[in-house]
Amino acid sequence: MPDQAPRGETPTRSPRASLRTSVVWEVLKEAIDRRAEATGSPVLDILDTGGGSGSFAVPLGRLGHRVTVVDPSPNALFALERRAAEAGVADRVRGVQGDVHGLFEVVEPGKYDAVLCHGVLEYVDDPAEGVRNAVDALRPGGALSLLAAGLGGAVVARALAGHFAEAHRALGDPAGRWGEGDPVPRRFTAEQLTELARSAGAEPGAVHGVRVFADLVPGALVDTQPGALDSLLALEAAAAELPAFHSVATQLHVLARKPG
Ligand SMILES: C[S@@+](CC[C@H](N)C(=O)[O-])C[C@H]1O[C@@H](n2cnc3c(N)ncnc32)[C@H](O)[C@@H]1O
Repeated sequence: MPDQAPRGETPTRSPRASLRTSVVWEVLKEAIDRRAEATGSPVLDILDTGGGSGSFAVPLGRLGHRVTVVDPSPNALFALERRAAEAGVADRVRGVQGDVHGLFEVVEPGKYDAVLCHGVLEYVDDPAEGVRNAVDALRPGGALSLLAAGLGGAVVARALAGHFAEAHRALGDPAGRWGEGDPVPRRFTAEQLTELARSAGAEPGAVHGVRVFADLVPGALVDTQPGALDSLLALEAAAAELPAFHSVATQLHVLARKPG
């Protein structure tokens, strides 16, 4: 029997970190469950492009799925191997050194039930090619999970920190950058991310705003007030679905499906 994570469990080990992952995890898990039901197979093949140290890959392995992580960073792959071993899923979670642009040098196209591309499109040379490769890696009917930095969230965060000129610059910059010191090379609107999926041949589905409030509220408030973390998680879950909040979310998540 696979090591099943209980329903509702988030993939992170610390409650505070669940603010970063819970919305995406719930959406992703539902899509994976739907795919498993549609294929009649409880064990799916999942590809995590730029999966890093496995913050999603390892929990997906714990659900019993076979997960391949492609990442260019040897350090990340080393951390992934250790994390998978600690979680007892080393036989189901495999790391491969590679790049989303040269994806098919290291994995086969058309072999995956779900492909994740989380926190990667900000950094790659050509996001459109990256998403095309992610879609080409899917089996017909497979699920694509895109997560990337949102433009509006960065503008709001810079403005609330008192950096008004930087906020203004990000607003007008084609890549959504607030200045030379900005560590993020590119940010997206929900429309841009959805269009990337569509142009790559996938049918975009649900869009969620991730971390609408979490990065704006003082950490001490969440850590010290009884019940505050749970209330904030519930608020984030409710706001995530509302298009009005997509334009100010720190990250945007788009779920899409390969036709067939
Ligand atoms: C912000 S981390 C996100 C890690 C993981 N996906 C997550 O959500 O926790 C970005 C990851 O993308 C990887 N990366 C950077 N450029 C890449 C590329 N061209 N192709 C694939 N992965 C890349 C990095 O090595 C890093 O592990």
